[in-house]
Amino acid sequence: MKDPFHLLLFLIGLKCSTFAQTTSPTKAAVHCSDCHHNAACEEHGDLRQCVCRHGFTGNGTNCSDVDECSSFDLNRCHSLATCINYQGSYSCSCREGYNGDGYRCEARGFAEECVRNNRSVSCSDPCMSHTVLDQTWRSTSYGSGSNCDRDKRGWYRFIGSGGERMPESCVPINRCNTHAPMWLNGTHPTSEAGTVTRIACAHWNGNCCSWSIPVQVKACVGGYYVYKFDGTPACTLSYCTDPSYVENPCPQCNAAEECKMVNGTWGCYCSQSFNSSDISNLEPRLECGANEIKVSVEKCIGFQNMIMSLRDHSCVAFEEQRNRTMVSVVTPTQAGQCGTELTKNETHATYSNTLYLGDGAVIRENEIKINFHCSYPLNMEISLEAAIQPIVSSVNITVEGAGEFIVKMALYRDPNYTSPYEGEKAVLSTKAWLYVGVMVTNGDTSQFVLRMDNCFATPTANATDPLKYYIIQNSCPNPQDSAITVPENGVAPQGRFSLQVFKFVGNHNLVHLHCEVHLCDTGSEPCKPSCPGIGSRRAADIRTAHILHLGPIIRKGSM
Ligand SMILES: *[C@@H]1O[C@H](CO)[C@@H](O)[C@H](O)[C@H]1NC(C)=O
Ligand SMILES: *[C@@H]1O[C@H](CO)[C@@H](O)[C@H](O)[C@H]1NC(C)=O
Ligand SMILES: *[C@@H]1O[C@H](CO)[C@@H](O)[C@H](O)[C@H]1NC(C)=O
Ligand SMILES: *[C@@H]1O[C@H](CO)[C@@H](O)[C@H](O)[C@H]1NC(C)=O
Ligand SMILES: *[C@@H]1O[C@H](CO)[C@@H](O)[C@H](O)[C@H]1NC(C)=O
Ligand SMILES: *[C@@H]1O[C@H](CO)[C@@H](O)[C@H](O)[C@H]1NC(C)=O
Ligand SMILES: *[C@@H]1O[C@H](CO)[C@@H](O)[C@H](O)[C@H]1NC(C)=O
Ligand SMILES: *[C@@H]1O[C@H](CO)[C@@H](O)[C@H](O)[C@H]1NC(C)=O
Ligand SMILES: *[C@@H]1O[C@H](CO)[C@@H](O)[C@H](O)[C@H]1NC(C)=O
Ligand SMILES: *[C@@H]1O[C@H](CO)[C@@H](O)[C@H](O)[C@H]1NC(C)=O
Ligand SMILES: *[C@@H]1O[C@H](CO)[C@@H](O)[C@H](O)[C@H]1NC(C)=O
Repeated sequence: MKDPFHLLLFLIGLKCSTFAQTTSPTKAAVHCSDCHHNAACEEHGDLRQCVCRHGFTGNGTNCSDVDECSSFDLNRCHSLATCINYQGSYSCSCREGYNGDGYRCEARGFAEECVRNNRSVSCSDPCMSHTVLDQTWRSTSYGSGSNCDRDKRGWYRFIGSGGERMPESCVPINRCNTHAPMWLNGTHPTSEAGTVTRIACAHWNGNCCSWSIPVQVKACVGGYYVYKFDGTPACTLSYCTDPSYVENPCPQCNAAEECKMVNGTWGCYCSQSFNSSDISNLEPRLECGANEIKVSVEKCIGFQNMIMSLRDHSCVAFEEQRNRTMVSVVTPTQAGQCGTELTKNETHATYSNTLYLGDGAVIRENEIKINFHCSYPLNMEISLEAAIQPIVSSVNITVEGAGEFIVKMALYRDPNYTSPYEGEKAVLSTKAWLYVGVMVTNGDTSQFVLRMDNCFATPTANATDPLKYYIIQNSCPNPQDSAITVPENGVAPQGRFSLQVFKFVGNHNLVHLHCEVHLCDTGSEPCKPSCPGIGSRRAADIRTAHILHLGPIIRKGSM
């Protein structure tokens, strides 16, 4: 529809030219010799007139060249052509890469969309240069709304779960967040077809094509489409998308999976069918961690709906977030958890369990059982975790900027520090040796070592008991007791010492041990104690002291 303003200008122009033809008083006086060399002398009855020739402009006595290339209203060159101006004329020639006579140019290769801006023409491939529309409400499965696409002019591409192309069949009214939904009456082009023109129809009033408007459609490399819209013929009309057409609705699917729409949503589903030879070759991946043991298998091994668990069937599999090809199940590295069993020999603690694999879609007849185990060489900490009821004391130490650490102290039976005393209490003969281990069990110990500053024994549980026997004082072993050995202190995240515990407490039948420890920052202080040299060492900083208490240790035969 023409707007009234343009119509008015058209009428004024008509009036002016009518006025000029009938009232010009000068023409009769014109002599043909006055005519410019680019003008023709025309005679109309007794009237003579100098009229500039085609391609020139002026009053006839002075004619100047019209630069037809200065405006595309003045030439007929194709938008893909270059315009060259001459005196009184111009020529058109198709730009580099395009074929044609200059009045019609066609792309060699891919079609471009060109925009003329005064003299310059800028071209771009609409597959590359377009506006993206990602509203899910454009979907034909979306209900009514008041969106109108009157302002959608130019090239557009649909993306997202609402659908990535227009529907090719009539859409019921009051869908796509509008009143009259628009669909494409025709098929989408193949990529060879290039750009095609189709009719977009709007459904309203019982008519699937109540309004229609041409739309250009181009199939792009990569399998998507771009559309050139020129608004809508009316409101409220919107361009719809077909939710069943989504170019890659599941980009996260891996090679063994296929993308399927189930219950209206897209998802990745294992594409292989059941293959028992695959399953017999199954090799679970085992990660033996200090805190947990993880078993992983490929997700798509042939089961339609894999069910995986441990001996305790409540410990079930989960999909790995980092590697979606794997499913895993985890048990804590602890006896009894998830049905995990612990066996120990002199050198190793071994945790074992069974992996159960079945297909939830069929009866559990193809269930697979795979036994697995993790063995840990016994050390101070592992043996503590492998112990049933170790005698242990623990303290949490928070280091600003480095987080929280857990320090434990335990009693061991032998110089290997791998057999902790278990049960409620430790009962020792008078001559027996006691091996004490202190260790950091949680926290990043890359920067810290453990230092035992003061360790002492008391006959009561009260650490401030005045009867106190020092084993380690100011980080060094008591020089008066040559039986005390401190094989490790201030050099590792663990410390060890051994002693003959009842040697020094006289007639007392009970001994309690107390150890004041700190985490020593290897980057900022000397951590390894220099012993002997007790007198020169500073007193323990009580403000930062963390004390571990163990006991009672009972003299054998005393109870
Ligand atoms: C035509 O225009 C020229 C200047 O452009 C002027 O000198 C001349 O008088 C005009 N002739 C007539 C007939 O108007
Ligand atoms: C003719 O008109 C052009 C521009 O309209 C002007 O530059 C030129 O001087 C004029 N020539 C004569 C002879 O009047
Ligand atoms: C085109 O011409 C208009 C007015 O003549 C001007 O405002 C605009 O900047 C020009 N555009 C370009 C790209 O030269
Ligand atoms: C779709 O287009 C075809 C061919 O142009 C035409 O015959 C048909 O009537 C159109 N469909 C509707 C619903 O208008
Ligand atoms: C699909 O829907 C049905 C019925 O609502 C439901 O039983 C089924 O579990 C769903 N399937 C999936 C894969 O979500
Ligand atoms: C099962 O897997 C084996 C080896 O991976 C393969 O050779 C065989 O063709 C597969 N069978 C089926 C039915 O997919
Ligand atoms: C996922 O795990 C499988 C099997 O170990 C491996 O082949 C694959 O490279 C892993 N993928 C990623 C992204 O880590
Ligand atoms: C202890 O167990 C480990 C792990 O199972 C094994 O390698 C080692 O041979 C065993 N040692 C003895 C003495 O049985
Ligand atoms: C020590 O830390 C552990 C693990 O972070 C926590 O469970 C425990 O409650 C903490 N104990 C104290 C006394 O803060
Ligand atoms: C300490 O461990 C070694 C092997 O690592 C073993 O041969 C030895 O018997 C152990 N000592 C004791 C007292 O258990
Ligand atoms: C511990 O011993 C000190 C000194 O004998 C005493 O003052 C304190 O009350 C005792 N604390 C407890 C809890 O018995």
